[in-house]
Amino acid sequence: MTPTELTAWTELQQLAQSAPARDIAGGFAADAARASKFALEAAGLQANLSRNWIDGAVLDALIRLAEQSQLPRWRSALLTGAPINNTEQRPAWHSALRGSVGDAQVTRQVADERDKMLALAESLRAGARRGSTGAPIETVLCCGIGGSDLGPRLVTEALGTPTGAARLRFVTNIDPVDLEQALIGARSESTLVVAISKSFTTLETLQNARAALDWLASAPGVRPAQQFVAITNQPAKAIGFGALPENILTFADWVGGRYSVWSPCGFPVALAHGAAAFRGLLAGAAALDRHFAEAPLTQNLPVVLGLLGVWYANFHALPTRAVIPYAQRLAKLTPYLQQLEMESLGKRVDRDGQAVSFATSPVTWGDVGTTGQHSVFQFLHQGTQPTPVDFITCRAFEHSASERERLLYSNALAQADALAFGDSVLGSAAANPHQVCPGGRPSNFITLPDFSPQSVGELLALYEHRTFVQGVIWGINPFDQFGVEIGKKLLAQRLSGTAAKRSGN
Ligand code: F6P
Repeated sequence: MTPTELTAWTELQQLAQSAPARDIAGGFAADAARASKFALEAAGLQANLSRNWIDGAVLDALIRLAEQSQLPRWRSALLTGAPINNTEQRPAWHSALRGSVGDAQVTRQVADERDKMLALAESLRAGARRGSTGAPIETVLCCGIGGSDLGPRLVTEALGTPTGAARLRFVTNIDPVDLEQALIGARSESTLVVAISKSFTTLETLQNARAALDWLASAPGVRPAQQFVAITNQPAKAIGFGALPENILTFADWVGGRYSVWSPCGFPVALAHGAAAFRGLLAGAAALDRHFAEAPLTQNLPVVLGLLGVWYANFHALPTRAVIPYAQRLAKLTPYLQQLEMESLGKRVDRDGQAVSFATSPVTWGDVGTTGQHSVFQFLHQGTQPTPVDFITCRAFEHSASERERLLYSNALAQADALAFGDSVLGSAAANPHQVCPGGRPSNFITLPDFSPQSVGELLALYEHRTFVQGVIWGINPFDQFGVEIGKKLLAQRLSGTAAKRSGN
């Protein structure tokens, strides 16, 4: 059965035609308790959902859609390690990396792999690791891309200024400029190169790692293999590349690339902030897993956020959604969510390979606040496409000793209200049509209590499960990404000279 055949789908189509749910200002005027009625809490996270195109009837119908899509059954399959990545016949068991699962072998394997990674990170943080000439390692260069870069980089930044003896650098792009910049100030004899790649076939990562190893080799006495670590699910490929077996960290094939920050791929986080911070991150994500598993659907934040995404994409035909973190530490959240959501949900067929007849992933885009207020917010306030926004900020900013943090928080609230209520927030509508901001534009206002590892772990797990919920409603597999293969195959054809010339160049 496709989702469009569910009675809740038809119900929601009818509700979408009714104006009241779209009238955010009217909703507040009619119900003094609206803000508290549509407020949810998950572990330490809070969400004010009252600026959405919803009323009780819409939410009830959305919950019925989740029930009729058998969301509880799919959720339990996800969290118990059933092979729900059906096209690749394996689990998507990232929750097993951060909480207790009832499988002793998996628990032991996860703990062993994690301990090995944390021990490496701690030895580098203590300045105890030496290069092949005996010089202490001062710089660690992490080569990775997509899920092997975005999550680790986001969390590393979110947790604040790195500590420890070793400086952390990242390289992602195959453009040589990226590596050149990453190596500024680094010395070959005191640099450790780390390649993070689940497949160990990713062109950019291998090219950058090779170039970095060549740079190591150019210094007298440096033996590059001794200053090279591989983090991968394909140890044989890493050995073929030149890694020493004792310098390889592994993880299971059921860890998807965009869900891998919780695995040894999170090494940059542990290096920059220490083993305790990494464990705190996992604990936060585990707390959110428990909320997802146990909270009733109506109170379940990832469930309700996922359903709101479906509401806008399928019943209001809104093709994009914006993510605006009001925290410089979360500046990488938008590109991270772009991969999480668009690589997971950008699918045109359902689990059985049948073409779907409705929209799946909207485009996820955005910029950090307040910076984005001076660029993309014009579109949000006066453009012709209403765009749901996720405002994400930190509650501690509201009463911070720092005036700029208080301003950051106030700006986020001001923008959410301006979008929801338009000119009426200023007391009168603009007379000049060029100045009219109509309002009625939906948003979620999500806050973390702080930037502790726990809170950051909760936030990322929240969005993982939100994405999963949408995959369930749409009946698609959110855990594969075959669409990225075509470009890789065509590149191989071009490099081998067998590609057909279809366009001018
Ligand atoms: O090309 C897309 C992709 O496969 C992502 O899914 C993945 O996160 C990224 O490339 C990196 O892959 P790997 O970790 O295998 O190098």
